[in-house]
Amino acid sequence: MCGIIGAVADSAINPVLEGLGKLEYRGYDSSGISILSNDEIQTIKAEGKLNNLKKRLSMVPLEGDCCIGHTRWATHGRANVTNAHPHQCGQVSVVHNGIIENYLQLKQQLIQWGHHFHSSTDSEVVPHLINHYLSHEMTQEEAIYKTILQLKGSYALGILINGSSNNLYAIKQGSPLVISEGNDGAYIASDAMALGSDSSKIYYPKDNELIKLNTAEVKLCSGSLNKKIHYINNNQCEKVISKENYSTFMEKEIFEQVDLLKALSVKNDISEYAAINFSKLNKITIIACGTSYYAASVAKHWFEKYANIIVEIDIASEYRYRSPIIIDNELVIFVSQSGETADTLAALRYAKSKKSQTLALVNVANSTIAREANYTFEIYAGAEIGVASTKAFTCQLAIFYKMAIEAAKQRSFINDTELKQLTHNFVQLPYIMEKVLQRCTELQKMAEKLSTYSNVIFLGRGALTAIAQEGALKLKEVSYIHAEAYAAGELKHGPIALLDEHMPVLVIAPKNDLTDKLVSNIQEVQARNAPLFIIGDSSIKQQINLQEDEFFELPEIPESILPIISVIPMQLLALYTAQLLGKNVDQPRNLAKSVTVE
Ligand code: AGP
Repeated sequence: MCGIIGAVADSAINPVLEGLGKLEYRGYDSSGISILSNDEIQTIKAEGKLNNLKKRLSMVPLEGDCCIGHTRWATHGRANVTNAHPHQCGQVSVVHNGIIENYLQLKQQLIQWGHHFHSSTDSEVVPHLINHYLSHEMTQEEAIYKTILQLKGSYALGILINGSSNNLYAIKQGSPLVISEGNDGAYIASDAMALGSDSSKIYYPKDNELIKLNTAEVKLCSGSLNKKIHYINNNQCEKVISKENYSTFMEKEIFEQVDLLKALSVKNDISEYAAINFSKLNKITIIACGTSYYAASVAKHWFEKYANIIVEIDIASEYRYRSPIIIDNELVIFVSQSGETADTLAALRYAKSKKSQTLALVNVANSTIAREANYTFEIYAGAEIGVASTKAFTCQLAIFYKMAIEAAKQRSFINDTELKQLTHNFVQLPYIMEKVLQRCTELQKMAEKLSTYSNVIFLGRGALTAIAQEGALKLKEVSYIHAEAYAAGELKHGPIALLDEHMPVLVIAPKNDLTDKLVSNIQEVQARNAPLFIIGDSSIKQQINLQEDEFFELPEIPESILPIISVIPMQLLALYTAQLLGKNVDQPRNLAKSVTVE
């Protein structure tokens, strides 16, 4: 979603531009900055990539010690310069992440007061309201408070006001915001990763705490009181993340999975998860969005099969709107790579309001979801830069797998030999994964054929239905090929009507109890002349006539770890197909890395 950065420092534009560069990976469509320069606010904006903004800035060199910047992910109004942030009204300039739900009402009121609007955004009402109250003899703080009292929705705001002193304000409700203070200046950002080396101490403001930053000090304003800020260490400070020798971050992150899983299996200690009393649980509910939801879907199979726990899964954006029944001794798990997804956060707050025990599974340790849940487990995937999630997915699965083993142990549902086998499989996992990755060129060939189609149907069975869904999501996210996934048995209940020579079907068909059933499904596909692609066991190849570039053989894989291995060919296929079609795989169109609006 939108990225925010602000600095009060000498040549404040430098850390702001640097920060905007670090926010690029989140996905955006335009950018802009406002700087207090020679006692006036100057705003420069550009459509498209940050380079366009930098080109414009090179023509108007700006100096000043108070600056805000923004990368926009359009919600209200097209992606163009007018709608790009910052939005300015008089002596007030504002950058916003979130959604002002009642902006139309506020805009009407402001128009009646004589204000003129330029953009179609919801955000523009904010500088107008602040400016309005400033012109009615209010102090800067009073004008901001009066404004936010009228805002409905979510926001993180960076506000620059040109007055007797140069001040930068920051305030949030529901959206992420971080403040930092270093030797060279003070900063605000929507993501700790955007902060520079001068930001080893950070503070996460609470909702509606107003922070005032100027060259003299950083204050937490609360009425007439100015409270001290208690900073914590910034563990994301200045980690330089490069693509190394890979063509894209997505490729690097796919190949990194072997080492990450080796590290997780060496750290093969499940005692961390013993903090949860699984034997007392009556039910687990797992809530997430997108890829994280598919991880939840696989986890459901593991918890049910190995620990005999009832597991319900739900999409975060639906959970709190469907009157979920929360029972005694229920654990509600929230899965989120970023830890900032607005829907997941809202669902977590809902579950907490119902007094549920909550657990967060996140990749970003200081994220809002991590801070608000009762328990937090990290997935240790390292920063994921590619917008399409890959390594975070397999690390989420790995942690769920370990939790399921701990749950199985506590509930004594499976015997010691079976428990040992599950642990042994986990240790084998990265080595089997490595073998699959070594054969990536075979998937490049398959991608050449797949990239000639406009639609693809993915099929799987059991826990691998979620992997088929994840494969379809990956393909559509990065290649823009339309892809849908089904449990293979569902094909004949409707989607089969779509099959003809233009509708390829990709089946995940490893060797397991369901292989024979899958072969029947595959034959139904062949009978309709639909092109077939199979990621599966060698026995399938003997039964179904396929060309080299239509079949990828899965090695023998223990059933329990099949989902974690079989997603690898899906990720590679999506990557190669998108690259063949010339797409920007790290920053696909319209997508944001961290979805901080509902
Ligand atoms: C994955 O490739 C997606 N970009 C998206 O579905 C993502 O998984 C979803 O938005 C949830 O994000 P989170 O894990 O950060 O909460």
